[in-house]
Amino acid sequence: MIYLDNAATTLQKPPAVITAVTKALTQLGNAARGNHTGALTANRLLYDTRLLVAQLFHAPLPERVVFTANATEALNITLNGLFQSGDHIITTDYEHNAVLRPLYRLQSEQGIHVTHLPLSPDGPIDYDAFAHAVLPNTKAIVCTHASNVIGRRLDLYRIGAIAKRHGLLFIVDASQTAGSVPIDMVNLGIDVLCFTGHKGLMGPQGTGGLCFTEQVDIRPWCVGGSGTHSFSPTQPADYPTRLEAGTPNGHGLAGLNAALRTVLTIGPTKIGAHEEHLCRLFYEEAASLPHITLYGPDLRQHPHEAGSIVSLTIDGVDSGRVADVLARRYDIAVRPGIHCAPRMHQALGTQASGTVRFSIGYYTTEEDVRAAIAALRDIVD
Ligand code: ALA
Repeated sequence: MIYLDNAATTLQKPPAVITAVTKALTQLGNAARGNHTGALTANRLLYDTRLLVAQLFHAPLPERVVFTANATEALNITLNGLFQSGDHIITTDYEHNAVLRPLYRLQSEQGIHVTHLPLSPDGPIDYDAFAHAVLPNTKAIVCTHASNVIGRRLDLYRIGAIAKRHGLLFIVDASQTAGSVPIDMVNLGIDVLCFTGHKGLMGPQGTGGLCFTEQVDIRPWCVGGSGTHSFSPTQPADYPTRLEAGTPNGHGLAGLNAALRTVLTIGPTKIGAHEEHLCRLFYEEAASLPHITLYGPDLRQHPHEAGSIVSLTIDGVDSGRVADVLARRYDIAVRPGIHCAPRMHQALGTQASGTVRFSIGYYTTEEDVRAAIAALRDIVD
């Protein structure tokens, strides 16, 4: 299989991840719930993984690294735990439903107001729009680091500066960039960073989390067993326990630990450079084919805008049909459709057909890209 669906999940994992999960399955007890070797091993593993996450993202405090099942859960914990009726939140049309749906629900059930900024998918991004949208009751800016449809990145430094100037919380969904783009929470002024473990970090599915600063206090969204303060009827106040009810995914986190070590050893800059190079190559080759429309900035004119995603349509053919032919006839894996990002597809005008999304990962090769281009040429012919 030629795997070009890395924005959905990375299928090729570092060998160390596979070894770590296999070992954990026979060695891990339940973290914070015992004093035998298995329980202590789990506890130490979790703490060590918090340290690695904090190192990768320059998160201020390891105890404020909270593990979740995925970025969606991290975003739900964050968005449901910070706001109250009457608050106003600024977000963008680049967002995934992991941000949109919790916000729609807060709007309808909690009386929270939301502004969706219609940022251009391919033209210059109007960063001033963030400042212009600020109201007296605005509490936060919530945005993705990169669109999962077109791969275009937002300049977090600029948005973070606006958030800081207006005293707003800055909440970032790093699902598409964690592992392949350097992220420094302190330098970018990020208050809450939500990430997933199974995409660019190359860890197992069922892992992810949030990192947040000392200034942020998040109400627990889920309460239950913590292994501590068992007579207390309420969730313990200390982090990370406050936001981590129930047995953690120790086996998955063992894999995430190995994945983080791999990413820290290679370096997100090097991983990102590899993906950007192949993304540009893919775009340039695809742009030379007839009957194909490419979305996002034109990478032939703006090569620095390359990320790890190329989204396209073939004239008059539904994206699902193209993906089906790619999978069945060429064994090439991509993701068609709306990619859980309805507002971006509305902005692109692709809400009826969807797009065929090719997404590159650290293990993608130039041969993979050339094979995908050859298949596309065959299809349009
Ligand atoms: N959010 C994932 C994607 O973009 C699943 O495909």
